[in-house]
This record gives sequence, structure tokens and C-alpha cells, in this order.
Amino acid sequence: MRELIDKLYKNNTLTEEELRYLIKNIDEEEKKYLIEKANETRHRYYSNKVFMRGLIEFTNYCKNDCYYCGIRRSNKNVERYRLSLEEILNCCEIGYNLGYKTFVLQGGEDGYYTDDKIVEIIKAIKEKYPHCAITLSIGEKSYESYKKYFEAGADRYLLRHETADEIHYSKLHPKELSFSEREECLYNLKEIGFQVGAGFMVGSPYQTVENLAKDLLFLKKLDPHMVGIGPFIPQKDTKFKDETGGTLEATILMIALTRLLLPKALIPATTALGTINPLGREKGLRAGGNVVMPNLSPTNVREKYSLYDNKICTGDEAAECRKCIEGRINNAGFEVELSRGDNLEWRRK
Ligand code: 5AD
Ligand code: FES
Repeated sequence: MRELIDKLYKNNTLTEEELRYLIKNIDEEEKKYLIEKANETRHRYYSNKVFMRGLIEFTNYCKNDCYYCGIRRSNKNVERYRLSLEEILNCCEIGYNLGYKTFVLQGGEDGYYTDDKIVEIIKAIKEKYPHCAITLSIGEKSYESYKKYFEAGADRYLLRHETADEIHYSKLHPKELSFSEREECLYNLKEIGFQVGAGFMVGSPYQTVENLAKDLLFLKKLDPHMVGIGPFIPQKDTKFKDETGGTLEATILMIALTRLLLPKALIPATTALGTINPLGREKGLRAGGNVVMPNLSPTNVREKYSLYDNKICTGDEAAECRKCIEGRINNAGFEVELSRGDNLEWRRK
């Protein structure tokens, strides 16, 4: 096993068979060794810096019906909300005053926000904060739409692939959605020139070790700039409400493997990881993570963006989150970094 870990550390790749073997057979001591190597790798490119991104959850309307997600369209128990341009700009101002230089606009796939509206939001933010980065996370769109957002000034796009196995994908999503469409979106985003984030949930229903190995190799092939990995957490209004969630250990293992496969990637210690364990995010950082995404959404809408149950930080003002997360980063032995934090290999076309 150590030889396999050393090989991964040295070559930043393994075969599918080797990855399966590693995931299935790694023991506690070997995990520690793997995490050490992942941490070393992250240090080589990013030292002990943790990049901050202010997250604005601007709509919880969604036309999709993903089986795992709390804001799926058929969930009648969520109170839906949309933020106005003014409210979004207000979040940015709060974030900017806290030092953030990336704003992540995340939402369901909400037809209310036409391309023109999204472009208007991007331009308004860029006009006020020309040196800040804008990240979009608003789902699957056409090539033309993505291109419009990029030309308006958006820099990055998060679209988790969720699972790289077509059959597993169909067990998590209704038939209108497919892995191949998802994959095409990700390649379109890359071609247009975005810094692209993919990623997946760990411990989602029906997931196998074979699926996880495939997810990791899909990431290796796509070579995204960012990778979001978090545990699946059941949500009470979904058909997966009684399923078991992903574990801290399994998620940490996937973060460490991802760091070794993609040494220069930006990898967040996700809110979902902090939700299943009070020190989850700190452990995520120690296993190779280097980004945190504190919440900037107005507190009165936070509970409504309930992708999964018991989400943390829903009662905290942006400034409290900022302080809390800084304390956590420092306690874990890392340092808050307030520059834009672009991927080392990215230049705007
Ligand atoms: N548990 C964990 N993560 C979830 N997401 C959606 N629903 C859940 C859940 N129940 C994740 C998906 C999506 C991201 C925005 O949130 O991976 O891409
Ligand atoms: Fe939000 Fe700790 S990061 S309260």
C-alpha cells in the first residue's frame, strides 16, 4: 500500500484498478501517511494559505428535481426566495468589507434569471469591484449562455459532476438529466475559458467503490481548476431521507486522493463536511483542502437554502462567520489568504 501511495505522490496518477484497490484496502496508519503526502503536496504549491470565497445563495427556486436535493422543484415544504440585484450587491459590499475578493453566486436552475438578468448582475458587481472574481454556480446552460456570462466578466464556474457513472447518475436524478449532458457542460465551460470546478458527493445512495474510482479518474481527465467534495447528507423532504449519509473518513480520503491526483487544484473544505463533524472543515484542510466558502447570504434566507438537513452557519451574520472561520483556519495551523486566489495556471483569455 505504501508503494502505491508513493507512486501516486510521485506521478499524480494511478490506474482505475489501483485506485479501487487503495480505496478498498487502506488501513488507518496508511491513511495517515496518505494525508501527510496530500498535505505536503498542497504546501508545495499553496504553502499554508487558505483562500476565502464569499457565498451568495441568491435563489432557491429550481426547475430540476434531483432526488438528493432539498430545493428540488417537487419539495413543497421550502419557502422559495429570490434576491434582487440590490440585495446581491449588498451582500457583495458586506463581503468586500470583510476582505473577500471572490463572490460565488449560487442558486437553483431558476428561469426567472434570464441570461440578460445574469449578465446585468455580473456587470453590476464587476463595475463596483473590478478586481474581484465572480464565480457562478447556476447549473446546466447552453454554450451560448455560458459564453455570455464569461464575456460579461464572470471568471469561474462551479458545476459538480455528482457522479461520473451514467447508471449511478440515473439513480440520483430524474430521466431528464444525464451524466453526458453534465460532462458536455463542463467541457464547454473549460473551452470558453472559465476556471471550472467539478466534484461529487461522497456516500450518496447506491455509490460503490467502483463509482468513486471512476469519479477520481474523471477528475484527472477533465483536469478542472477546482474540485468540490462533500459528504452526502440526507434531507428530510427527499426520497433519500432515510438513507445513510457519507462519513467524515470517506470524504477526507477522497479529498486527499484528489489533492494527489490534481496537485494544483483549489479544493474547498465544504460546509457539508463541517455539518457532519464539528472539526470536519479543519480535517478537510489538513487532508489537502485550501479554500473555504463562508456564507454571505442574508440571514433571513439562509434556512431556506436547505440542500441538506442541519446545515451549519445558518444563524450567523457574515461577520461572525468570517471571525469563526479565521479562528478555525488558524487553529488548524493555516493562514487566511485574502487575494483573489486564481488557479496557478489560469489567465483570462
Ligand atoms: N447532501 C450533500 N450535498 C448536497 N448537494 C445537494 N444536495 C445535497 C445533499 N443532500 C450538493 C450537490 C450540489 C451542491 C451545490 O450541493 O453536490 O452540486
Ligand atoms: Fe459560519 Fe463558523 S463559519 S459560523
